[in-house]
Amino acid sequence: MAKQTFNLNVNGKNYNVKVEPDEPLLWVLRDDLKLTGSKFGCGVGVCGACSVLIDGVARRSCCIHVGNVSQGQKIITIEGLGTLDNLSPLQKAFVDHTAFCCGFCTPGMIITATALLARTPNPSREEIIQAMDLNLCRCGSYINIIEAIESFVKDQWRGKSE
Ligand code: FES
Ligand code: FES
Repeated sequence: MAKQTFNLNVNGKNYNVKVEPDEPLLWVLRDDLKLTGSKFGCGVGVCGACSVLIDGVARRSCCIHVGNVSQGQKIITIEGLGTLDNLSPLQKAFVDHTAFCCGFCTPGMIITATALLARTPNPSREEIIQAMDLNLCRCGSYINIIEAIESFVKDQWRGKSE
């Protein structure tokens, strides 16, 4: 397939990339834009390690052809949520609760949790478990991940009631 130029809005910046239209978005992010926070796990939409937000919805970038990203859609990767020097409150909650072991699944977990919290700002434990259910963690850090999200929610709502 011939290469074409695509304009992508990623983490608030516009990029032009020249790739084949059936190139997975994950490869464009990692190889062309050097945003390597999104991980390649299964490559078939099962594990969630490659999750990114597209217009606020968590999507699996390994399964999205760059040619299917519409002009103007806003893509947010883990790099767009916070930095090592300036973690987002949710990222900080993951650190505080040691919600990872190897960390490979963590970007996808945080992206998925971010999407959950945008649509359900005060989720119950069951809602958190349900939303995170299809993101896999080979290290088995599930309990800590759930506790990190719960703690973030508690802090958010405590802040609102003060
Ligand atoms: S790498 Fe995309 S879902 Fe596993
Ligand atoms: S922390 Fe290792 S895969 Fe989740």
